[in-house]
Amino acid sequence: MPLLPPELKQRLSTPLKIGSVEVNSRVLQSPLSGVTDLVFRRLVRRYAPESMMYTEMVNAKGIHYLRKLSKIMEIDPNEKPISIQLFDCRPDFLAQAAQMAVEEGADAIDINMGCPVNKITKNGGGSSLLREPKTAEVIVQTVAEAVAVPVTVKTRLGWSDGEINILEFAKRMEEAGAQMLTLHGRTRAQGYNGSARWEWIGRVKQMLSIPVIANGDIFSIEAAVKCLEMTGADGVMCSRGTLGYPFLVGEIDYFLKTGQQLTPPTPVERLECAKEHLQALWEYKGERGIYQARKHMAWYCKGFVGAGQLRGQLNRIETLSQGLELIDAAIARQQL
Ligand SMILES: Cc1cc2nc3c(=O)[nH]c(=O)nc-3n(C[C@H](O)[C@H](O)[C@H](O)COP(=O)(O)O)c2cc1C
Repeated sequence: MPLLPPELKQRLSTPLKIGSVEVNSRVLQSPLSGVTDLVFRRLVRRYAPESMMYTEMVNAKGIHYLRKLSKIMEIDPNEKPISIQLFDCRPDFLAQAAQMAVEEGADAIDINMGCPVNKITKNGGGSSLLREPKTAEVIVQTVAEAVAVPVTVKTRLGWSDGEINILEFAKRMEEAGAQMLTLHGRTRAQGYNGSARWEWIGRVKQMLSIPVIANGDIFSIEAAVKCLEMTGADGVMCSRGTLGYPFLVGEIDYFLKTGQQLTPPTPVERLECAKEHLQALWEYKGERGIYQARKHMAWYCKGFVGAGQLRGQLNRIETLSQGLELIDAAIARQQL
């Protein structure tokens, strides 16, 4: 059973203040492209009702040319607090998309300055902004002037080990008007390899007055506590740890608030959750939802007898009923 150090409990007992927005949780669900749609967020929020969540990243250029809201910006009117994450490098496109996001109900706008994917960086978005701090600064200023909600930034340590510029970059984002900085403790060149270097997050925290959220390798309550102690960060953001496990944000949140550990879900409870996820994706997206569900279903399949075989089967489903039957059979086997 992990222990909650009293000084940590005390330090994190007040709401997280993101500009004018107060959030009663120090654990955030990260934006995950292809994952954190309305359906997934609803599952996460059941266990973490007070946490800040993010949409998948939205292309501001697409919004500009199509002049309509993208499906991934869709927000359930009951989900709060919620931030819409945007990417691009054109301040005017981003400001325009941000205004539409606010009309949709976003409580905050996050600018993606961390995505390492070539398709994004070669067009000047994501982590390539770490190499263009002046543009990044103008983006934050322009978007902050365009909307009344707080504007936040999510970024990495730098482009590569030879170009770690986060100390200067973070300060510039704060001065430009960012109301919170989320820092993934890896460089762009690192991708998702190696460990997140939390020590850099600690250095940034010491320099800034706005909240700093630590991101990278928060897979458990123990990791969250260790990271918060090591960095002094104002909160932690969970990412890959939530794939097939929408319970994680709620588990850490509950622990930080009470010092108690929730009973982890049993394999049957996780399979029931997978079933609900599949059904909801079908209802929300139709056939496309079934194809998208395959990866989610595979992520749920670990840590019980027969998980490997079920994973292979769920990865090939074509219809809702096929998926539901497979999961029902797996649940029945767990109960034998
Ligand atoms: C499948 C996947 C999709 C992601 N999509 C986004 C995204 O849309 N926006 C973003 O800022 N980061 C995105 N990320 C990065 C994560 O939010 C997070 O910064 C990163 O995974 C590090 O945290 P972790 O080590 O806990 O996974 C994505 C990561 C993964 C694995």
